[in-house]
Amino acid sequence: MREFKLFLIAAMVASASCTDVWWKSAVVYQIYPRSFMDSNGDGIGDLNGITQKLAYLKDTGIDAIWMSPMFLSPMYDFGYDIADYRQIAPEYGTMKDFDELMKTAKKLGIRVVLDYVPNHTSNESEWFVKSAQRDPKYADYYIWAHGKPDPKNPDYMEPPNNWISIFRKSAWEYNAVRGQYYLHQFVIGQPDLNYRNEKVREEMKDVLRFWLEKGVSGFRIDAVNMLFEVDPAKFDGRYPDEPLSGARGKTPDDYDYLIHKYTRDQEETYEVVYDWRAVLDEYTEKHNESKIMMTEAYTELALVMKYYGNSTRPGSVPFNFNYLGDLSNKSYAREMKKTIDLWMTYMPTGRVANWVNGNHDQSRLASRYGVKRVDAMNMLALILPGITITYQGEELGMTDGFVSWKDTKDPQACNTDDPVNYYKSSRDPTRTPYHWDATKNAGFSSAASTWLPMADNYATVNLAAQMAASKSHYKFYKDVVAVKRLPAVRSGDLDVRALCHYVLAVARLLPGHPVVVGVMNLADQQIAVDLSSMLLLPLQLQVEASGVDCSLEKGTKVQKNNITMPGHCALVLSSVDNCC
Ligand code: GLC
Repeated sequence: MREFKLFLIAAMVASASCTDVWWKSAVVYQIYPRSFMDSNGDGIGDLNGITQKLAYLKDTGIDAIWMSPMFLSPMYDFGYDIADYRQIAPEYGTMKDFDELMKTAKKLGIRVVLDYVPNHTSNESEWFVKSAQRDPKYADYYIWAHGKPDPKNPDYMEPPNNWISIFRKSAWEYNAVRGQYYLHQFVIGQPDLNYRNEKVREEMKDVLRFWLEKGVSGFRIDAVNMLFEVDPAKFDGRYPDEPLSGARGKTPDDYDYLIHKYTRDQEETYEVVYDWRAVLDEYTEKHNESKIMMTEAYTELALVMKYYGNSTRPGSVPFNFNYLGDLSNKSYAREMKKTIDLWMTYMPTGRVANWVNGNHDQSRLASRYGVKRVDAMNMLALILPGITITYQGEELGMTDGFVSWKDTKDPQACNTDDPVNYYKSSRDPTRTPYHWDATKNAGFSSAASTWLPMADNYATVNLAAQMAASKSHYKFYKDVVAVKRLPAVRSGDLDVRALCHYVLAVARLLPGHPVVVGVMNLADQQIAVDLSSMLLLPLQLQVEASGVDCSLEKGTKVQKNNITMPGHCALVLSSVDNCC
């Protein structure tokens, strides 16, 4: 019996270790389906458009695509308001198109990661409609509350409390069918689900299983730190007001007017995330694939780290928004090192780091840092240990497009009601369609007009031009993606050095394998870089990837104590001999 038990344990360990954790050093490419490729000429990107481009993505070397939501939705928040988690939005295609996409991706060896939006549904979801009607199954699926009587107007009930939506104004909307207010932390069309209801938690696990059964390789989880609100049982059944922040210049309609102690980062959230991890793990053996789970939480670092899991339960890979948000065009080598060290220091031992250079909610990399830093920032995200997350177009150095007030679609901008300053809140500029080539609509669509206007620099900044050029952001990106496959970059130690104010060097070292080192010159002028203080690097190095501003060509041999780097040059070097 004892032998049998030991055999069983050994078999379990063996099967667990046999499944390669492919995402430990993966390049995950974010596709915003609406803006990637329009296959049917309606001005809106679609699933067949994505399928057409998968071979190209394979050639670039990416491991997985993460698709922003393509589920049935009235599109008040462009797919982040889901009416049915198990259907495809007709403007993006059909379930058959999705299955085709999966088939092509599988054939090419590209993994497909979906966006899971658990905090809210659309108000057009059947669950919500039935909840408003107090259908016994769905009555408590959402956060409902009675209004407060308005002393000045007995016919009117005010919202239950002062909570504000992230997209401005009250987070409560009255529903006449139910005769109560419901909570929406985002737009009115995005009612918050009630995670204190076990039926909701189970229902949402089944949504994961539905797509896992279709063979997806994991999920990006949306707005996860908004899942729970404070337990009203602790406040006599009421939802308490949130305290005022005192932030300067904020009005009672602005989200930052309050401190969100009752609507974000509630302690109950983490176990739910670990439960989802367990659902994904049900499929590890079945699919012989470890599933990826990445969570989106813009919050304090200490809380972000909790998503990684605890000593007994594994969790997710929380997006590294410190990397995205703490650095700017005014950051130089020391700040960059500090930001890298911060994540590597706080990340629990044995977990997987990640480097987010952009997404559909943030101004583009080239606009935030300036075009001159595109190569440096792409290189850094690829050379550092862990997962690289690239938002579509960042590999080309696409910039934010101009979107007039008239053309503005983003609810976050529309809700400002401000035709002058709307652009400060708008996410449309980062969502303008992808630049494939210099033809009409950048080759994105044959339509007379596209859902958002094209950025006006597409004639010069586009994939076809960058493929044809002898040097380009795209070519450099692709070369560094190839370097990410080398053993030292996959799993070697990390040595980050701010060699001077302007020069950052990142070495990856694995005994028995060539060393890889990424070096960037953040100055405008040329610098003769000396890597001698990096003692484990051999004297002779070879250029593996050379950014658009560098003069040294790929394959050139250099001496580590004297590397000529023009202003803004980003280089990847490797040792010819094995390390250490
Ligand atoms: C996330 C998404 C964003 C969306 C919001 C509400 O932050 O990235 O685009 O508006 O959640 O779902």
